[in-house]
Amino acid sequence: MKILVTGGAGYIGSHTVRALREKGHTVIVLDNLSRGHRGAVPGDVRLITEDIHHVDAVRQLLIEEHIEAVMHFAAHSQVGESMENPTIYYDNNVVGTYYLLEAIRQAHVPYVVFSSTAAVYGEPEQTPITEDMPYAPTNVYGQTKLMIEHMLAQFSRAYGLRYVALRYFNAAGAAADGTIGEDHTPETHLIPLILQTALGQRKSIKIFGTDYPTPDGTCIRDYIHVTDLAAAHVRVLEYLAGGGESQYFNLGTQQGMSVRQMIDAAKKVTGREFAVEEAPRRAGDPAILIASSAKIQAVTGWKPTHSSVETIMADAWRWHHTHEHGYGDTK
Ligand code: UFG
Repeated sequence: MKILVTGGAGYIGSHTVRALREKGHTVIVLDNLSRGHRGAVPGDVRLITEDIHHVDAVRQLLIEEHIEAVMHFAAHSQVGESMENPTIYYDNNVVGTYYLLEAIRQAHVPYVVFSSTAAVYGEPEQTPITEDMPYAPTNVYGQTKLMIEHMLAQFSRAYGLRYVALRYFNAAGAAADGTIGEDHTPETHLIPLILQTALGQRKSIKIFGTDYPTPDGTCIRDYIHVTDLAAAHVRVLEYLAGGGESQYFNLGTQQGMSVRQMIDAAKKVTGREFAVEEAPRRAGDPAILIASSAKIQAVTGWKPTHSSVETIMADAWRWHHTHEHGYGDTK
């Protein structure tokens, strides 16, 4: 199939571009490069530096290129930033996606795969989280993704568009060959911060809260390898093209790891010692977030195969210690 990947120069988008091409699909990337990296897009993939708000340009592209599906990753994704500056989240995520969906509707593209988040659930009532649990986002980022899911459902009902929304838990790791990986500015995610500390780029890694109701007192998360996430996108595209109904799926591994366990794993994989500081809780962090991924496994047959903590950490380390300044930036 011929697929437009918005945000294909970003972390999860770029790994999905690779997975799609490995399965023989043709990919065009649309990215405004506000946060993505030119260096994350292979030289032989067409990169269009365009913004999803530009409905006429996007519609024309979809029609001219005979695009059969859109995978939509282009979004801001930092929880803290979304609370400090909600306007850019409503504009880029909600308004931008509205214009993108409008272009998709006008161009009659039948399928959309959307990059959603576990943040739509907020503080879960129980764990593992299943898709039927109540939506209660505790931050603007999660709220914007939930609004987009509603928009998709309404466009689907009214115009026949079919879509899958994938609610990611903690995306982690990097391509096994070390050529693409995670590069955010500023970086707020645990694993890159730990590895930057191992590289000596930071003085210490802070543990945000050691008094949570978990076995070692630190927060537990469900870390899923970005290669497994990318493979799930290919699966759900095949599911839609095979006649599957619009759906939303959690994407996690059903395994939880604490902050301390991640730090220990990093020390083992890197062979380096580094300073660890205990710090107060970070506002808005739930104690435990673990996905049930029973639904996607049952419906599409997808299973995580790269998501052991050792593989995640080893692949992330390969990327970080060969790209100390990320993509460095080749804008
Ligand atoms: N943490 C630390 N020290 C740090 C950074 C993080 O202890 O320096 C802890 C956090 O408190 C949290 C865990 O490590 O307990 C993971 O934190 P991340 O910032 O890496 O990830 P989050 O779980 O906060 O957020 C991720 C995605 C969000 C998404 C959310 C969904 O990054 O985009 O999962 O639950 F919304």
